[in-house]
Amino acid sequence: MSHDGPVQPLTAAAAPPLRGEAEIPGDKSVSHRALILGALAVGETRIEGLLEGEDVLRTAEAMRAFGAEVERLAPGSWRVAGVGVGGFAEPADVIDCGNSGTGVRLVMGAMATTPVSACFTGDASLRGRPMGRITEPLALFGAEARGRSGGRLPLVLTGAEHPMPVRYALPVASAQVKSAVLLAGLNAPGATEVIEPEATRDHTERMLAAFGATLETETTRAGRLIRLHGEPELSPQRLAVPRDPSSAAFPLAAALIVEGSEVRLPGIGLNPTRAGLIDTLREMGADLALENPREEGGEPTADLVARFSTLRGIEVPPARAPSMIDEYPILAVLAAYAEGTTVMRGVAELRVKESDRIDAMARGLEACGARVEETEDSLAVHGLGPKGLPGGATVAARLDHRIAMSFLVAGLASRRPITVDDAAPIATSFPAFRPLMTRLGARFADGAAA
Ligand code: S3P
Repeated sequence: MSHDGPVQPLTAAAAPPLRGEAEIPGDKSVSHRALILGALAVGETRIEGLLEGEDVLRTAEAMRAFGAEVERLAPGSWRVAGVGVGGFAEPADVIDCGNSGTGVRLVMGAMATTPVSACFTGDASLRGRPMGRITEPLALFGAEARGRSGGRLPLVLTGAEHPMPVRYALPVASAQVKSAVLLAGLNAPGATEVIEPEATRDHTERMLAAFGATLETETTRAGRLIRLHGEPELSPQRLAVPRDPSSAAFPLAAALIVEGSEVRLPGIGLNPTRAGLIDTLREMGADLALENPREEGGEPTADLVARFSTLRGIEVPPARAPSMIDEYPILAVLAAYAEGTTVMRGVAELRVKESDRIDAMARGLEACGARVEETEDSLAVHGLGPKGLPGGATVAARLDHRIAMSFLVAGLASRRPITVDDAAPIATSFPAFRPLMTRLGARFADGAAA
């Protein structure tokens, strides 16, 4: 698997205590949604704190291709002149979403009830990921998809000419599927309903309400039901994107395993549907404080302060998985530094992320000297305690930013350096990872360990 640019091996070595304050970039999930809803509103939306990672820039490009004006005014500050619900024009070329599952799935939802056709593709990682989970519910609205086997990209989607509202029970706990259905429901008459068995991140619902759509949520026996009333006029907004808790997890984890560390991360988004890692780390005995809780941009935030801690292994409750689904790779690293075994069950979805994250973490941790066990939907890591991972290995990042960052964090506390074969994918979600970590005291070197 490869990306367009040069491969960038990067090595992390034992670091002195990490200290200081770090400004984490904007939330990736919220950034995609801000651009898409801005493009579907009538008039000018202003976004502050947008994540300028490759994934989000691809979504910005996609919104331009569908006819919206999208302009960067200053770092993190963007203007979107929307075309209105149902106003998307036919793109003149293929929409390349790069590495971004969220980008491609949400954009497909947003166009599925407008009678235009678009061809979607992505990098080798994205082209290997399942799209049937999106095209099946979109077909209920009347959209038609033609893709490769298994519904994979490249794929041509033709939006419904006379869309029907839909009632859809999610077969997997996926915020991307839920969001695609809700975005498609915008241009369908009547009420579109989605039922999710477990609550997944609710940024789409929050932001739709902020743009003036009418939604209701109910707790039913089958799960959480969200009802969206179709054909609203979305009114443009001024949005402030909270800082990404999934990116914050990396410096936070580094502070927990590098002796003597204390790191402060101000203004991190702590939406309860995203904050499962905090509960998990507390159960593991982490010294983690949440200070100045407040609300920013319609999302709860707080300052996080993490200090070096003696961690113990735990069983992570499977019901918590949706609220920390992107944090399992870094949790697996922390588990290797804990005393005892950490068991993560009910995590089959990790197999269809940017890489098969159960396999990527299991093979990488084994190469670094940890013992692990896996099943189709679980991973157990036997911790080595504070003496930590032996390291001295090169780990495959598999075009997966979170695998790359997880092993670079692991290498800051391992006995011998850890090399990641390609750190370039980090730019998809956290382009400032290396300078930010270096300012805190981390030691990285280009290339493999000498
Ligand atoms: C996301 C939802 C999650 C998550 C991804 C971002 C979103 O994916 O892993 O990084 O912004 O909706 P799933 O919907 O596949 O669980």
